[in-house]
Amino acid sequence: MIALITGTSSGIGLATSVELAKAGHTVVATMRNTDKADALHAAAEAAGVSVSVSALDVTDAAAIKQTVADVVAEHGAIDVLINNAGAAYVGTLEQISDENLAWTMDVNFTGVARLSREVLPHMRAQGSGRIVSVTSVGGAVGQPFNDAYCAAKFAVEGMMQSLHPVAAAHGVKVSVVQPGAVATEFINNAGESVGERMNTTDAYSPQVQNYVERTAGAFADAQTPQEVAEVIAGVVADPEPAFRYQTSERSKMFSGMSLGDLDGSKVTGATAAWVN
Ligand SMILES: NC(=O)c1ccc[n+]([C@@H]2O[C@H](COP(=O)([O-])OP(=O)(O)OC[C@H]3O[C@@H](n4cnc5c(N)ncnc54)[C@H](OP(=O)(O)O)[C@@H]3O)[C@@H](O)[C@H]2O)c1
Repeated sequence: MIALITGTSSGIGLATSVELAKAGHTVVATMRNTDKADALHAAAEAAGVSVSVSALDVTDAAAIKQTVADVVAEHGAIDVLINNAGAAYVGTLEQISDENLAWTMDVNFTGVARLSREVLPHMRAQGSGRIVSVTSVGGAVGQPFNDAYCAAKFAVEGMMQSLHPVAAAHGVKVSVVQPGAVATEFINNAGESVGERMNTTDAYSPQVQNYVERTAGAFADAQTPQEVAEVIAGVVADPEPAFRYQTSERSKMFSGMSLGDLDGSKVTGATAAWVN
């Protein structure tokens, strides 16, 4: 099968590219800066497989259209789309400018919407396909200082759950994968916004300190990107994939708290203790 993956310069996307190539798929691994491709090529080589790398910034609507057209022209199909690219933005609502809100939604949500919409006609025409989106436990549990990020991940979950039955009727299987803490560049990449919060003295400062400490604890025993990649490869291999997957026992418990929390009190009770 021909698999297109976003955000493959590091972490989950890199590991998933290699894992899908190991499973025999033709992998088109996209990243916004192909100068960063060495790590992926090295991991593929170590695994005895190869992947094809191409440039794609998921915030670039024209590039999304061109990438999908290029893959179909070269390989004749797109069978699997893995929407993996994503980035955190740390801040409570008052601390998030319109620009940062738009950027967070663009990277984590609008890119997923555009890319999925672009592959759908090809998958529909062939009567088969897989769209797997890496969301987060933050797509089920709203978390302090993750207002924009969680909004974007909830948006992906809502969009994909809505799309699921409609796409299924055309042979296209839609799933979301919710990791918890994973040891990748994710936290480092969120560093600028964390730094801004840590260096600002305002009414939220004590809560930011508590949040950052709690997050460091959660990431102290984070799972590996390889473990998440194996879950994603399992979704792709499953003839009848579920709609939603968690990638560890801890992420099952965490997302489960929200998914069974009809009045929202369990989640807000638990997360209040993170910051107060
Ligand atoms: N790590 C966690 O704890 C965790 C938990 C739950 C969910 N997730 C989700 O897992 C996914 C993968 O993250 P990760 O943990 O593997 O983190 P990561 O190592 O930071 O990887 C994120 C990838 O997304 C790429 N990316 C960022 N902005 C992009 C853009 N505009 N266009 C294309 N690619 C872009 C990054 O590229 P650059 O190298 O160019 O920045 C990188 O390749 C994300 O959707 C994230 O939200 C992560």
